[in-house]
Amino acid sequence: MESPVQATFEVFYRVERAGAIRLSDGGGPFGFDITRALLVDDLLDAFRCDAIVETGCFLGDTTYYLAARYPDLPVYSCDIVPEHAEFTRRRLAAAGCRNALVSCTDSPALVETISRLHERPLIYLDAHWEDRWPLDAELAAVAQGIVLVDDFDIGHPRFSFDTYAGRSCGPAIFAAMPSPPARYWTPDPDADWPLPCLQVGRRSGIGLIVIGLDESPLDHHPALTGHDIVLEASA
Ligand SMILES: C[S@@+](CC[C@H](N)C(=O)[O-])C[C@H]1O[C@@H](n2cnc3c(N)ncnc32)[C@H](O)[C@@H]1O
Repeated sequence: MESPVQATFEVFYRVERAGAIRLSDGGGPFGFDITRALLVDDLLDAFRCDAIVETGCFLGDTTYYLAARYPDLPVYSCDIVPEHAEFTRRRLAAAGCRNALVSCTDSPALVETISRLHERPLIYLDAHWEDRWPLDAELAAVAQGIVLVDDFDIGHPRFSFDTYAGRSCGPAIFAAMPSPPARYWTPDPDADWPLPCLQVGRRSGIGLIVIGLDESPLDHHPALTGHDIVLEASA
């Protein structure tokens, strides 16, 4: 029988990198960094997730990967640009991915709806590029789930992160949540994975939090490091 690692390998490298037309990492699922796909696989298993949510599908490289790799899970994604959502919807329909639901929606609304509808969703936040950065509203909208924030500052020069209007996508984003969690996790850049990352260009960091679920699977994951969230002292 095919192992989970083999299954991830098989699906990951069959996805066309349509996002290459605009994405600085050349597109592909999870920015063509298979270690993130391996992490997601571990988390879906450890948290026994019942749904996957992605925000910001662009041309659907990650959406297609997730829907093809996890045909038994509902995969929700959205984009605020109608052409992106429509392209992704058609791409997945043509590939026969019946478990994917792609909509032209403002991402916080999707996060709120789906994290209330499901008990243990994995929520991958990757919506950006527009004038308004939806990340604060997305985080505030999570009712429960395991949350992965893309383009997060993990404090390592190999891994890029977002900055909007002088604000970095880093731990302060979690500290600014209406009800900040006590801890967050980042991948160890030197961790051993069962497959090598073949992305030689831009790689981005990822920050993880857990809302309303037992967070111990993150502490037990060998490639993740936990950190306390430091709240700003009020004046
Ligand atoms: C970096 S791209 C996403 C890449 C995609 N996740 C992938 O792996 O190929 C960011 C996308 O977020 C979308 N976006 C920006 N703001 C959004 C919002 N408020 N709601 C939904 N999508 C949004 C953009 O239109 C863009 O397509």
